[in-house]
Amino acid sequence: MTNANKLIIGSDHAGFELKSKIISYFAERNTNVYDAGTYNTDSCDYPIIAKEVAKKVAAKQFEKGILICGTGIGMSIAANKIKGIRAAVVSDTCSAKMSRMHNNANILCIGSRIVGEALAKDIIDIWLSTGFEGGRHEKRISMLED
Ligand code: RB5
Repeated sequence: MTNANKLIIGSDHAGFELKSKIISYFAERNTNVYDAGTYNTDSCDYPIIAKEVAKKVAAKQFEKGILICGTGIGMSIAANKIKGIRAAVVSDTCSAKMSRMHNNANILCIGSRIVGEALAKDIIDIWLSTGFEGGRHEKRISMLED
């Protein structure tokens, strides 16, 4: 995945350190990622970042988003308020794969206080490289929008 405008990432203060490591990881592989903030460890409110990232993904300015907070939970609750967003909190590689195959998740939420750096990188790699299965899941995805 090397195209521009495919991926946006955001975090709150709790996710800032892990976000920085993930951005470096992408840079090492010449993968573009737009950093929506936060840009330091000063305390901030995750709904603001989640809303910005989710709106840009919903508007198709970016194909997928990654959101990191302490648990991933607040970010996912906030992102899922935006129509068209299917945000999944993921802490293991199987869920990373299934959230793409069955749920066509367009935002991945990770908890920096739950998941270590190495596992977070594995989760992201799997999540970004797994496609939506479609078929019977297509109808179910569309039901989420009703
Ligand atoms: C911040 O302390 C923490 O509440 C936040 O990062 C997140 O885990 C919320 O769900």
